[in-house]
Amino acid sequence: MKRVKKAVIPAAGLGTRFLPVTKAMPKEMLPIVDKPTIQYIVEEAIKSGIEDIIIVTGKGKRAIEDHFDNAFELEQNLLSKQKLDLLDKVQAPTKMADIHYIRQKEPKGLGHAIWCARKFIGDEPFAVLLGDDIVESNDPCIEQLIRQYEKTGSSVIGVQTVPELETDRYGIIDPSSNEGRLYEVKNFVEKPSVTEAPSNLAIMGRYVLTPDIFPYLENQEVGAGGEIQLTDAIQRLNQSKGVFAYDFEGTRYDVGEKLGFVLTTLEFALKNSELKTPLVERMKEIVEEHTQIN
Ligand code: UTP
Repeated sequence: MKRVKKAVIPAAGLGTRFLPVTKAMPKEMLPIVDKPTIQYIVEEAIKSGIEDIIIVTGKGKRAIEDHFDNAFELEQNLLSKQKLDLLDKVQAPTKMADIHYIRQKEPKGLGHAIWCARKFIGDEPFAVLLGDDIVESNDPCIEQLIRQYEKTGSSVIGVQTVPELETDRYGIIDPSSNEGRLYEVKNFVEKPSVTEAPSNLAIMGRYVLTPDIFPYLENQEVGAGGEIQLTDAIQRLNQSKGVFAYDFEGTRYDVGEKLGFVLTTLEFALKNSELKTPLVERMKEIVEEHTQIN
């Protein structure tokens, strides 16, 4: 069995839920406190043993490449002022695994973005990590899925339980049987209505896929939202080869929509020893001010 050494991070979407900030700035570069979202994702991949990362970019995404590149003048400036801890922070992203870039010429959907990476992936299993979800766990999320791939030899999709009223926001699985956290799946359904959802186990932006997915992506028709959906291709792959879902351990932060982004920022700021006390104090005042007004 081939080892999972490569990861794809699709980052070519338009980020319309964050307009206007995403007009000239990639959604994946929005900071959670002081680190761009995509850096958390790259760090998870590296901790999981991934050696090569391919970021699928598009128009207006230069800032991502710059972030993982050297910043000569800035580094010289920090060095001359002996600001060595800041220099470390600036250099850290450039020292991360080998990062490669390919362009998705048009944002035709997540499925299409993954298909764009096919030549880089070749005939190997690979990981996919979306920047919309940050997962915190002792055992990195994608490593948990890689272990399940090594056990089953099949594609494995990361899922977690969501509240029943929220199933229409996610790809949902229809499980047939399970062994602990590992599920065999009958169907993958993209954003089912609350009454039609077969379960409340939702796909959470982490996948280990075998290269068998590419022929399905190649001829996948446009689906929900007028986009080529990865879930639709996975559903077809499941019918011929069998795809598993794994209910991974860890706390998942949804940074792909505004409320989730703000809450994640607050929670991460509260974990920061410098920010915690002043933030709690100011938040109490803000809450008081707002409850008085309303
Ligand atoms: P999303 O649907 O969450 O991202 O896709 P989006 O389309 O940029 O955001 P909204 O819905 O308009 O606000 C999940 C991931 O897939 C990438 C996105 O960049 C994001 O990281 N993606 C999506 C692509 O790379 N290409 C696409 O065509 C669509």
